[in-house]
Amino acid sequence: MEIAVRHAVPEDWAAVHEIFLQGHVLAGTQRLPYESPHYMQARLVSRPGVTKLAAEVDGQLVGYAELITHPDNPRHHHAGEVNMIATHEKWQGKGIGRRLMQAMIELADDWLQLTRLSLIVWTENEHAIRLYEGFGFAREGVMPDYAYRKGGYVDALMMGRLTRRGVRDY
Ligand SMILES: CC(C)(COP(=O)(O)OP(=O)(O)OC[C@H]1O[C@@H](n2cnc3c(N)ncnc32)[C@H](O)[C@@H]1OP(=O)(O)O)[C@@H](O)C(=O)NCCC(=O)NCCS
Repeated sequence: MEIAVRHAVPEDWAAVHEIFLQGHVLAGTQRLPYESPHYMQARLVSRPGVTKLAAEVDGQLVGYAELITHPDNPRHHHAGEVNMIATHEKWQGKGIGRRLMQAMIELADDWLQLTRLSLIVWTENEHAIRLYEGFGFAREGVMPDYAYRKGGYVDALMMGRLTRRGVRDY
């Protein structure tokens, strides 16, 4: 199975919207049920510093990811955030998330000179944490009661991937 990665375009909004409304994405992220289609149409508009990746299999959009950078902030332009990664529920466990992470890591390391990548993930999201640890992300700390979900609070784990030599030992 070949997984192709390209930049997302506004015309992808319906396919990405469908993924964002799925139960596993609502549970793992800060998206809301009944999110308006207009929200997604606006989100996919090109914005400086934000790379939006679509993963496709046989021309079907099966995954989506966002990498945020800060080109206008001279003291923070070495840092980026994995802001979103989501696979269509029918395509989970088939390497889509891994392929999207690989694309973001290559962009960060080989093109953008990002030496720090950050993300937050709910502490219970072991599937995602395992994916991130496989790409060298380390656990940096826990933020208790970070978000509200389905009537209860979830804790957020901060993770970071530092590539500048000797910068820090966790
Ligand atoms: C997290 C998510 C993006 C992973 O996508 P995916 O396409 O299912 O992941 P992959 O098939 O590429 O698997 C990548 C890695 O995840 C881990 N993984 C996959 N399936 C797993 C499972 N059932 N149990 C535990 N770990 C699993 C493994 O480390 C796997 O790597 P490996 O196959 O080399 O062991 C997907 O589950 C998702 O959309 N979740 C909802 C949104 C979300 O929570 N996003 C993260 C917000 S921080």
